[in-house]
Parts: sequence; C-alpha cells; structure tokens
Amino acid sequence: MVEDKHIPNNILFYKDYSCRKSSMVNQFTLSKSGASATIEVLTPAHLPKVLALHEATRAALPEAQKMFVLPQSSGYFEKFLNGQSGIMLGVSTNGQLIAQLVLMGPLALEDVIAKRAVTRNNIAFHHVGVFDTVVAIKSMAVHPDFRGNELSQHILAAALEQPLVQNADHAFAQISADNERSWELFLRNGFGLVAAATDPGDQKGRFILQKPATGFSFDMAPSADDVDPVKDFQAITQLTQREGLIGRLDEGASLTSGLRLVFSASAELEGPLPRVVQTQN
Ligand SMILES: CC(C)(COP(=O)(O)OP(=O)(O)OC[C@H]1O[C@@H](n2cnc3c(N)ncnc32)[C@H](O)[C@@H]1OP(=O)(O)O)[C@@H](O)C(=O)NCCC(=O)NCCS
Repeated sequence: MVEDKHIPNNILFYKDYSCRKSSMVNQFTLSKSGASATIEVLTPAHLPKVLALHEATRAALPEAQKMFVLPQSSGYFEKFLNGQSGIMLGVSTNGQLIAQLVLMGPLALEDVIAKRAVTRNNIAFHHVGVFDTVVAIKSMAVHPDFRGNELSQHILAAALEQPLVQNADHAFAQISADNERSWELFLRNGFGLVAAATDPGDQKGRFILQKPATGFSFDMAPSADDVDPVKDFQAITQLTQREGLIGRLDEGASLTSGLRLVFSASAELEGPLPRVVQTQN
C-alpha cells in the first residue's frame, strides 16, 4: 500500500468526485443519421442500459473476437457508475445508450500492479514514476447498429478531456493485438505502444498503450521501423520490455503493406532501465 503522505493531492480530490448527477460533457451530430448525440458521465441509474450495451457489443463480435470485450458483472460497472473506482462515460441518442467506456482510477503504480488494473501480464512500467498516478481506460463499446459514426473517437477524445484523466500522470489501455481498429485509434490519439504480452487466460496477444499527461518525447532517430504488428509480435515484446522502446504508427509505411509501427527510445529515459516489477500469479 502507498501511504497517504505519498498520494498526490489529485487522488484525495477524486475521492470526493462522486457527485453522481449525470453531467453532459459534449454534444455532436451522428455522421450517418444526422441525429444529435450527447456524451455524459453515467450514473447508477444507467446500469441496465450499460449492461445491455456491453452484451449487445459482445454478442455482435465473431467468436474469434470475443476477447475484445470480456464478460463483466453488474458489480464491475456499479463501482464506476457510483464513482467508487472511477467513472463511466456514455454516448446517447434519442434515449438510447450507444457507446460507453470506463475510466478506472486514479491509481498509484503499486495498485495498478497489485490490482492488475491495466493487464494480467507482468510487464515493465518503464515510463511511470513510482509516485505517478494512472487512469486505465477500459470496456469501450459501440453498439453494432451505430458503428461507423466514429463514436469511439468521440468518446475517447471526451475521456481524455475529463478532469479524472487530466489530473492523472498517465492514461493506459490494454487492447487485443488483433483489434487493429481499436489500438490504431489510441495511437492516433497520442498513446504509445509500451508493452506486448500474451494473456495468461486466453493465450492471445495484448498491446499495452500509454499516454503520459505531457506526452512522450522521443529520441530523434527511430530504433526500429517497418514493424509488422502481427508477424513481429515477439520482437515487439522484447523491444518494449527489454529496451523500453515505444511504438507509434509508421506513417512512412506504404499504403499496401497495412499498418506498420516504428519504435523509438524515450529521450527522458537515461541510464540503465528500471527493474521490471514482477507480481505473483
Ligand atoms: C472498436 C469500436 C469501438 C470502433 O467502433 P466505431 O467508433 O463505430 O468505429 P468507426 O466509426 O471508426 O468505424 C469505421 C468503419 O469500421 C466499421 N466497424 C467498426 N467496428 C467494427 C467491427 N467491430 N466490425 C466490423 N466493422 C466495424 C464501421 O462500420 C465503419 O465502416 P463504414 O465506414 O463502412 O460504416 C467498435 O468496433 C467496437 O465496439 N468493437 C467491439 C468492442 C471493442 O473492440 N472495444 C474496444 C476494446 S479496447
């Protein structure tokens, strides 16, 4: 446990973040139907809609993609809807909840590791200070009938503007390596790929993405480019774990070759890499 004297003020502030009135964050027009949509902080009253959207999103995924959205209990969502462990954002149109995500935190690094808040794998948190605070973005879902309205971009942008995220030192997300649409979205929103690992549950690859509040500053010359996110998965594991490199989209890659990544060192990480933190299974 981190002692209270080590907990930055913003954690104490967020313990009091639970004024559980739904509050509108943003309003925009759906690009497909032209209908108006609102983004708001969800409340416990939204629980049935949250569960229904989670299930509808999962049900629409083919079997091989079910791990994009893991099954969750109502208790899991309740602790975000009531502000106990974070918040939930939702997008609604005509009274229907059509997109949502969870913001878990703020958490101290020790708790991120102990609670496996970002990943069940033992990864190296090379780019987080011991007293930094972290918010984990989880359970993003868009209703299958409303795909193609860039709802994931709208809700992620709104999430990054939330005081909960703005006051944290880092935002993190874990995304299936197969879920190209999703990790590309995060990379395009300022996240870097900082770890890759095989999930102990389903043995499928996961990418860990991180966005420090002040962004990454990279060494000038990339250390590896034209990296294939699928074929080079093992290499990505090592580049990030052992060398502490950070992946971004390789904008120079040819259009026909599909998405490629470029890996660079952080200009801020000097000397020997911090010890990799291991947790017991
Ligand atoms: C990832 C996700 C949130 C993106 O949804 P979105 O914001 O609607 O995506 P976009 O608006 O950028 O869609 C771009 C195109 O991809 C299509 N598309 C989006 N998600 C799709 C999916 N899961 N399967 C097939 N096509 C999909 C859209 O229909 C659209 O095509 P169109 O332009 O021909 O209409 C959504 O796919 C989803 O809910 N997936 C399942 C849950 C998931 O993966 N969550 C993320 C976990 S980290």
